[in-house]
Amino acid sequence: MTEDPDGLPVRPVSPAYTIGYEDEMVTVLQRRTLATCAWFLLPHLRPGLAVLDCGCGPGTMTLEFTARVAPGQVVGLDMAAPQVAAARALAAHRGVVNARFEVSDVYALPFADASFDVVFSHALVSHLAEPMRAFAEMWRVLRPGGVLAVSENDTGTFVVSPAGSAMERFMALYLRVLRHNGGDQLLMRHARGALLATGCTKVEAHASAEVWGLPEATRTVAAGMAAIARGPDFVKPVLAEGWASQVDLDGLVADLPAWGEQMDASMAVLKCGVLGWKPGEAR
Ligand SMILES: C[S@@+](CC[C@H](N)C(=O)[O-])C[C@H]1O[C@@H](n2cnc3c(N)ncnc32)[C@H](O)[C@@H]1O
Repeated sequence: MTEDPDGLPVRPVSPAYTIGYEDEMVTVLQRRTLATCAWFLLPHLRPGLAVLDCGCGPGTMTLEFTARVAPGQVVGLDMAAPQVAAARALAAHRGVVNARFEVSDVYALPFADASFDVVFSHALVSHLAEPMRAFAEMWRVLRPGGVLAVSENDTGTFVVSPAGSAMERFMALYLRVLRHNGGDQLLMRHARGALLATGCTKVEAHASAEVWGLPEATRTVAAGMAAIARGPDFVKPVLAEGWASQVDLDGLVADLPAWGEQMDASMAVLKCGVLGWKPGEAR
């Protein structure tokens, strides 16, 4: 595969989804909240708004919207049927009545133009080979005066300690595989421009850090990353491109949990967020 000026493989268009759906990875997602991942959107939520969460995964964050906008309706959408099933089960378990979940592709949203006041995604667009196409589709279903809210780790900013640890080795491989699978680890640092290009006239960029610095957090993220390193969409390109051998990968999977138990282990990444408004009068 050819490499770009950063030495990273050039992105092909690919349907691969690098992080997979192993339970340990989904657990990492379930620890996240709107307060930690989309705090910049919270002041703009109010009762009665219709919200769409694209790439909702297990639905943890989607369901957080329901109390904030009730009686407004919240829709979670994901291409993975098992994730949608899990989100539906969680909603039923909590007795939530103003949320529904659908299996669909963010590139072809099954909604009429101007259906939602808020269109949100967290941890989706950097996995997409065509993020601008996804933004255009999100924009289409947004009402005039509505807000497009996107939050995502800028994967190019991951910092890991200790140096030379299994987690540091994993992250170096992860960036290559994400890129290979069509994702863009630097997309979010340019998100303000991306939403302006989509048609938003007022755009705000925000950022904070996501940090794994306590034993329970490093243990959980180590298990999640080990699950990614076992997954087919990770293993296949690593072996095909000769970035590591199966023995190396097995070693990584075995060593990551030990990193998670180390008292000196920590990891952090810049979480970038962007809000963009569609011109027009809000409802
Ligand atoms: C990293 S997870 C994030 C889940 C959730 N937003 C969260 O932050 O907890 C990304 C999700 O996006 C979904 N996804 C990936 N590509 C998609 C696409 N083209 N259309 C819809 N969903 C997609 C995956 O199935 C996965 O559940």
